[in-house]
Amino acid sequence: MKPNNSKLELSSEAMKTYGYQVVDAIVEHFDSQKNKLPVAMGSREEMDSLFLEEVPEKGTAPSKVLDFVLEKVMTNSTNMSHPKAYSFVPGPSNYVSVMADTLATGFNIFSGGWVASPAAAELEIITIQWLLKIFGFPQKKGGGIFTSGGSMANLTALTTARQIKCGDDFSKAVIYLSDQAHSSNIKAIRVLGFKKEQIRIIPTDIEFKFAINKLKNCIAKDRLEGFHPFCLIATSGTTNTGTVDQLLDLSKICKKEDIWFHIDGAYGAAAILSAKGKQLMKGIEKADSLTVDPHKWFFQPYEMGCLLVRNHKHLSHTFTEKPEYLRDIEGNTSEINFYDHGIQLTRRFRALKFYMSIKTFGLDEFRKAITYNIDLAEATESILRKSGQWEVVFPATLAVINFRFNPIGKNYSQQKLDEINQHISEKVVSSRKALLVTTLLHGQVVLRMCLINPRTTLDDVKETLTLCQGFAQEYT
Ligand SMILES: Cc1ncc(COP(=O)(O)O)c(C=O)c1O
Repeated sequence: MKPNNSKLELSSEAMKTYGYQVVDAIVEHFDSQKNKLPVAMGSREEMDSLFLEEVPEKGTAPSKVLDFVLEKVMTNSTNMSHPKAYSFVPGPSNYVSVMADTLATGFNIFSGGWVASPAAAELEIITIQWLLKIFGFPQKKGGGIFTSGGSMANLTALTTARQIKCGDDFSKAVIYLSDQAHSSNIKAIRVLGFKKEQIRIIPTDIEFKFAINKLKNCIAKDRLEGFHPFCLIATSGTTNTGTVDQLLDLSKICKKEDIWFHIDGAYGAAAILSAKGKQLMKGIEKADSLTVDPHKWFFQPYEMGCLLVRNHKHLSHTFTEKPEYLRDIEGNTSEINFYDHGIQLTRRFRALKFYMSIKTFGLDEFRKAITYNIDLAEATESILRKSGQWEVVFPATLAVINFRFNPIGKNYSQQKLDEINQHISEKVVSSRKALLVTTLLHGQVVLRMCLINPRTTLDDVKETLTLCQGFAQEYT
């Protein structure tokens, strides 16, 4: 056999030089992002013209590849951590967690089983314990798992709910969610093989909360028709408006009806750390399962979701397989193999960034940041209400605010208002100065700001509103 003459390694010196360049670039990004434009735009043709090439057979100097990536890739990616990235659910991130992710990747730690990396499993257990405590879940019996994001946490939850409540026969099972539930839940339901006839989308009331009476009627009718109501998905912080469903009422219905109570708190649940959020989250501790998304309002870089469960055995009961090739690493029951608690076998070490950032900053700094975000949304609402130009379509709730340009005394038609506000959003985005897109509330086009970035200041918001106003006047 010929000796290995492949060159997939760099020298120590080259690795260090490369690493320092990468760190320099990241630090520069953190330091200067405020002065850069958040929005990247490019057509497929433009991106092809930058990147399309045959797979290179021969290598290129590392720094040359890195320079090319920094110049062409990073600059053509929207910055969801930018203070003026208001749309969807931004990802503010934090530097300590970025470095933690770099460490986890650098050491390539396998976070699947206890034997492979006991410290990684232990840190996942510990950080999940912290979260269980924050959300008032039972400490001993409860459990959870980190996932790639909220969508995977919801899928993991619904798989567990189906297994525990239905076993193998789910032909008559029905699941309830509101018309404001996040689309990832519907995706998960589809992945699990439920038919359309098994999904009940319950309308919401004027505040975008579950219409409880309609829900009760629907459950009763389903029972009379021989269906098996098995799971209800509530939301603590809807993506559109930040609305929190009536968690206590829903928990009582679920208890009475023996229905699995899942709460999707991917975006909003972290608000429990603030005084106002805590009030809204009453009843969250009653859930059978709760999705939390640390890569949103716990300021972690992508990808990090989390599923908490009231009873950790429900996860192992749902996901444990015992293939012969893993027989030597089974461990004992207190030593958790996270591959038995979820879908992935090989898993990156997500707990590390959560652990390091909370240890470094302390939970209180997270609490302050979240409280600041909620106050910022309320201050924004107050500016909008005083302006005479803007209508608050839905008040600031968990750092989300929905509004539209609708100057007093102008009496524009609904269609005209939709056109103006769509125009504002399109112009703002194409100016690249802010990421501010629309959503639909009660059929109206509205502008939506999600203000979960602690770097965003009230001045940033004011500048953005001035920009919007300029575009509105241009159209009217
Ligand atoms: C309420 C809610 N659930 C689930 C998700 C999906 O989370 P992810 O994008 O992390 O998969 C989101 C994303 O915005 C969300 O707001």
